[in-house]
Order: sequence, then C-alpha cells, then structure tokens
Amino acid sequence: MRILVTGGTGFIGSHTAAELLNAGYDVVIADNLCNSSPEVIDRIQDVTGKRPVFYEADIRDRAAMERIFRENEIGAVIHFAGLKAVGESVQIPLTYYENNIAGTVTLCQVMEQAGCHVFVFSSSATVYGMTNPVPFREDMPTSATNPYGWTKRMLEQILTDETVAHPEWSVVLLRYFNPIGAHPSGLLGENPNGIPNNLFPYIAKVATGALPRLNVFGNDYDTPDGTGVRDYIHVVDLAKGHLMALEYAFNHKGAEAINLGTGKGTSVLELVHAFEKASSVSIPYVIAPRRAGDIATCYADTEKAAKLLNWHAQFGVDDMCRDGWNYMVKREGK
Ligand code: NAD
Ligand code: UD1
Repeated sequence: MRILVTGGTGFIGSHTAAELLNAGYDVVIADNLCNSSPEVIDRIQDVTGKRPVFYEADIRDRAAMERIFRENEIGAVIHFAGLKAVGESVQIPLTYYENNIAGTVTLCQVMEQAGCHVFVFSSSATVYGMTNPVPFREDMPTSATNPYGWTKRMLEQILTDETVAHPEWSVVLLRYFNPIGAHPSGLLGENPNGIPNNLFPYIAKVATGALPRLNVFGNDYDTPDGTGVRDYIHVVDLAKGHLMALEYAFNHKGAEAINLGTGKGTSVLELVHAFEKASSVSIPYVIAPRRAGDIATCYADTEKAAKLLNWHAQFGVDDMCRDGWNYMVKREGK
C-alpha cells in the first residue's frame, strides 16, 4: 500500500514517514520545502534502510498533485503540509488561508478525481480555544483565536462536510497537543531557522548557546508553579498514532476527531528542569510578561484515542528531552 505524505520532510511528517516505512508501507512524499530540507529524505533512508519517493511539489499546484496520483497508486493521504507559526499567521492571514485551506481543498479535489478517499489530517489542540475546562475532550465546542487556528478549525469543518456529502470518504482529524523531542537516532528532529516561537526548540537553542536565556511567559497563572502547563508529546509517539489512525481510517467511514496527547500536564519550569537534567546544561531564564493568546493549562483527554485507535503515548518528558538534546548535539556538534 502506497501512502502519500504531504509535508513529509517536515518535523512530524518525517517521523511519520519513517514509521510507515518501518511498518512496510511504501511512502511518497510531497513537500515544497518552504520549511524543510531535501536532506531529510536521506535521513529517513538512514533511519529505515528504505527511501521514500520524493516530489518537490506544492499542494496548491493542481497539475503537480495530479501527476503524483497519476504516477502512483495512492491508497491514502496523511496531510501535514501547512504553515504553522501563530504570530506570522496574524501578520499574513491571506497567505495562511491560501496555503492551508486552498491547498487542502485542491489536494482533496485531486484525491476525489483519483478515487482516493482515505485522509488523515494534522489538526491541533488550538481548536479547543480559550474557555474549555481541561482535560480537553473531542466533543467540546471548538473555536480559534488567530488565523492559524482558524485554518485548522475551518479545515475540520470542510473535511467533515465532505464526508457528509460523499460517504465513501474516511477522514481522521488528529488534534495534536505539543509535539517535541526527536528520533532516538538523532537523525530526525526539529531545528527552526531564526528565533523559535515554541518553548522546546527555544530551550534547546539556549542549551547550545545560540540564545542567551529563556523568557518564561508569565509566572502568575493559576497553575502549581504559576507557569503555563502543556501536554508535551514525543514526536515518535505522535508518528505512531498516525499509523493507528490510518488503520482506523481504512476500516471506517465519516469524519472523526481524535486527540493525540499524553493526558499529562507539564509546566514551563518543569520542562526547563527536565531539559537541564537530560543535557547537564543549565538553562538561564527570566520571567517575562504573559504572551497574548496563551492559556494557563492545556492537556488532553486520551480516552478516545485509546478506545478507537488502541494508542497510548509511551514516552515521558525525560525521554523527550533526552532525544531532543541528542538531536541537537548530533546536528550542532555541541
Ligand atoms: P513543519 O513546518 O516542520 O512541516 C510542514 C511541512 O509542510 C514543511 O516541510 C513545509 O515545507 C511543508 N509545506 C508547507 N506548505 C506547503 C505547501 N503549500 N505545499 C507543500 N508543502 C508545504 O511542521 P510540523 O511541526 O511537522 O507540522 C506538521 C503539521 O502539523 C502542520 O499542518 C501543523 O500545523 C500541524 N501541527 C503541528 C504542531 C506542532 O507543534 N508542531 C501542533 C499541532 C498541529
Ligand atoms: C503554540 C501555539 C499553538 C500551536 C502550537 C504548536 C500560541 C499561542 N499557540 O502552542 O496554536 O498549535 O504552538 O505549534 O502560539 N513559552 C515560554 N517562553 C517561550 C515560548 C513559550 O514561556 O519562549 C511558554 C508558553 O507561554 C506556554 C508554553 O511555553 O505556556 C508552551 O508554548 P509553545 O511551545 O509556544 O506552545 P503553545 O503555546 O502551547
């Protein structure tokens, strides 16, 4: 069975491509490389001993998508391709709506034409918005607070509408919590250019000396130590969740939203200390004002993933920090 992985040279897509290859699937990757490098294909081969087929292609390019479906018998699509920086989405909303929404619509139209109806989509816990109580459950009301979040919220609606109109479709909307860490080999991981927006890559860059200190965004939240609490999930656990979601999608019809998280909350300072333990490097930090749009606490209700997918996260934050640091050491030679 041949699976198209859009965004497959990116952080989560590359780990998922590796898990798919290890599980015996053939993998075709389509990525326009706007936020990743073609060397990732070599790294996936190093990790799995198998080489995915690679197309440097944009999901908005209908002719390119048609060519991929013409040249490959695609059994299902796992769709990671998208822009994901919250702050940037506020600055350039039309770019986000065009890339994420128009791109996904084009991809689905080409799938429809090709008779491929199995789709696993990268959604986000951001769709739970600012007012739901934790733990977040899939049947809670969804909303968004920024254009990035709206692209996820709107695509969940668009994909659900498609399954209603065309019952042969099977769509799994995976709501990721906070994916961090790296492949234990140290060959795949996340290393954003410039100053990272997200906590884990920021801590990692402080640890390598690329950044002087961490700004902790607020220590007056209603949480045990006052800093924000999130549900960090190892990227390898997340990748494995996609395989289980794919199996589920092959055997069901309609659209189903499913959380992929650990169900455990970790504060900013707890993550800093776990990273210090894993790296033996001290992470200087200062308390800074709260970041606009942040909530105090976010973690998943994991019952639905357990019940429908038989999936549970295996790794804890110490593993995530160990593997994330190992990746940085290998990559940066630190
Ligand atoms: P990433 O940026 O590392 O990977 C996304 C990949 O998509 C990149 O390789 C990029 O080059 C590619 N891409 C972007 N637009 C494209 C287009 N128009 N055509 C083809 N390729 C395109 O991001 P990631 O962290 O691996 O995230 C993957 C998906 O998961 C995204 O949709 C993201 O919104 C979603 N998600 C990520 C997180 C997270 O914390 N990383 C959380 C929730 C949801
Ligand atoms: C952010 C996005 C979310 C997106 C997710 C994955 C916002 C408001 N939310 O989630 O929509 O799905 O990334 O891309 O941007 N923190 C610091 N200092 C830093 C960075 C972060 O203290 O330099 C704190 C934050 O206040 C938060 C925690 O660390 O409490 C996690 O932040 P981050 O890694 O950015 O993830 P989210 O905000 O959960």
